[in-house]
Amino acid sequence: MAAMFRSIPQVFRGHQCASFLLSARMFSKKADEKLALADKVAVVTGSTKGIGFAIARRLAQDGAHVVISSRKQQNVDRAVAVLKEEGLSVTGTVCHVGKAEDRQHLVATALGHSGGVDFLVCVAGVNPLVGSTLGASEQIWDKILDVNVKAPALLLSRLLPHMEKRGGSSVVLVSSAVAYLPVPKLGAYNTSKTALLGLCRSLAVELAPKGIRVNCIVPGVIKTDFGLGEKTLPNMRPELNKIYGLQRLGEPEDCAGIVSFLCSSDASYITGENITVAGFSPRL
Ligand SMILES: NC(=O)c1ccc[n+]([C@@H]2O[C@H](COP(=O)([O-])OP(=O)(O)OC[C@H]3O[C@@H](n4cnc5c(N)ncnc54)[C@H](OP(=O)(O)O)[C@@H]3O)[C@@H](O)[C@H]2O)c1
Repeated sequence: MAAMFRSIPQVFRGHQCASFLLSARMFSKKADEKLALADKVAVVTGSTKGIGFAIARRLAQDGAHVVISSRKQQNVDRAVAVLKEEGLSVTGTVCHVGKAEDRQHLVATALGHSGGVDFLVCVAGVNPLVGSTLGASEQIWDKILDVNVKAPALLLSRLLPHMEKRGGSSVVLVSSAVAYLPVPKLGAYNTSKTALLGLCRSLAVELAPKGIRVNCIVPGVIKTDFGLGEKTLPNMRPELNKIYGLQRLGEPEDCAGIVSFLCSSDASYITGENITVAGFSPRL
């Protein structure tokens, strides 16, 4: 009997020891594990603030080297400095996605890191008009379609040879809930965002044989300068309660994890999807 009682602490100690060894093993396994996007290179357009910045930060936190870009040098410098300060691997360059020479320069900068690119995330988008669709001038149409729709395709066509070589490459486009639920006075913008849903599917089919996946996120209203700006939010507000279940506006970070997942090998059987990030959207 005494022996039995003596053995209890031993058993207990043995159990503690075993669980310690187990957790130590799990910890060292965790420490040895590579981050999901380690050794990858990501190009993110429109990434010096808002949704693009949150995506760039998350891809870098998950191990990728990220090339930051937008139209203004000071914005690029600031974003790169902030992320480097956080210990993340980033470089940056100016790229107005509507300008061919800027796109070319962005590709060259990205290739400068390790000679290839794995992910392209096209976030840059504009809405220069609040007004009727038929009142939009040809210049306005050109600007919206050039930046929002043509630029992702033209940039990808330049990156394609370099992405093809890498294996497991992935593209993510950024549409908007207005693609499904047109908001009055944003007609030309709504149309451009609907076009992106089609671009996603066409590119997914076209690039599948090359092993490149193409998906698209479809955000609701996200708290950024653009989302809260006078051109977007006041026009969205009457519709908000009807379509957004979580009863809050989105944060830029709400769009970041899903993009990292879509780039990762965990999403290797997912392509051509338009994924809504809008806090539940039964009417979309
Ligand atoms: N916020 C929302 O509610 C919401 C909802 C659905 C979809 N979206 C889409 O999400 C994307 C990003 O919006 P956001 O809300 O994050 O806006 P944001 O906070 O205003 O940020 C826009 C970013 O894009 C850059 N940019 C603007 N025009 C550009 C161009 N022509 N070429 C390259 N970069 C450009 C800006 O920097 P520079 O000024 O230095 O160029 C900035 O870094 C857009 O495509 C938008 O349509 C937003």
